[in-house]
Amino acid sequence: MSNLSQTWQRLPRGGVWKALGLGCSFGAHFWQNSPKTNMAVRCYEDKDHTADYLKYRLMPNEMVGKIMGMIKQKMPLPAPLAVDVGCGSGQGTVLLAPYFHQVVGTDISPSQLENTQANQTCPNVSYRQCPAEQLPFENGTVDLVTAMTAAHWFDRPRFLEEAYRVLKPGGCLTLLSYTLDMDVEYGDVSEKLKEVCKEFYAPLLPFRDPHVGSSSLQIIKDMFDSCPYPEKEWCECFEVRRPISVNSFIGLVQTFAVFRKFKEHDSQQAEELSNRIRNKLLDTMLVSAPDTEITMVTKYFYWIAWKP
Ligand SMILES: C[S@@+](CC[C@H](N)C(=O)[O-])C[C@H]1O[C@@H](n2cnc3c(N)ncnc32)[C@H](O)[C@@H]1O
Repeated sequence: MSNLSQTWQRLPRGGVWKALGLGCSFGAHFWQNSPKTNMAVRCYEDKDHTADYLKYRLMPNEMVGKIMGMIKQKMPLPAPLAVDVGCGSGQGTVLLAPYFHQVVGTDISPSQLENTQANQTCPNVSYRQCPAEQLPFENGTVDLVTAMTAAHWFDRPRFLEEAYRVLKPGGCLTLLSYTLDMDVEYGDVSEKLKEVCKEFYAPLLPFRDPHVGSSSLQIIKDMFDSCPYPEKEWCECFEVRRPISVNSFIGLVQTFAVFRKFKEHDSQQAEELSNRIRNKLLDTMLVSAPDTEITMVTKYFYWIAWKP
């Protein structure tokens, strides 16, 4: 074990800033202004849920392309090591493979990790089970730490500190996610479909997990504000349009933690809501086949920061 990691293990929370040479006031400031949280939450453990996750969640190609374009400006690629924290079934993890010699996806859920087999096609990508707050890497060894649609579930201050610990100086931390209120477009009825989508999301809102609250965007923005790296950038909306069938759109919304909570509360109501929305979408589009293709508009938000 290196001297630095021995030091890390002896440090009180927040002491890593001092140990890594950022000075006491910098570290204390970060720690006191970190977003408040109690504990990480585990809600991606159920096998049915993770199987649907693998089936319906989309690969964030456009977002990863955008972010890697920014990283390329500052870091020679391929770089040695990227870590995708809260990787789920690896849909985003594999997209990093062309840019790094080694990519490691980490997740706390064994059930999610079992499904990474489907995304194990790249020889330089591997997966590890561990909490986001205790990453199995030595101090200062990682070029990129990312979390895609996952960091709102973590113990945020502890994760940010852990990311700082493992990153190399000059390494990159980037968090991305998207809002629940995705719109769908189809011919000249897109405005009407927007209203139908709102009807789909409204009954789910009371079931948001208290750890996440009413806005994961606000959580990720708070993490950005609390990150003390001087060089950083926040983007509040990056829209991505993708073709998707009506059925897959419904299936995707059903994988959201908030839908799962609603379903746990009343599975019949959840089923009825999905069926009603599917039928309303199809009626508005004047089609009958649920595999009819629509365009889904996803509003991503992200930040990127460079460890000094
Ligand atoms: C919404 S999923 C995102 C998965 C994947 N990154 C994607 O974009 O499809 C969130 C993931 O974070 C994981 N997760 C939640 N809390 C965690 C923690 N404290 N440590 C590690 N993983 C965690 C969950 O198990 C889940 O797989």
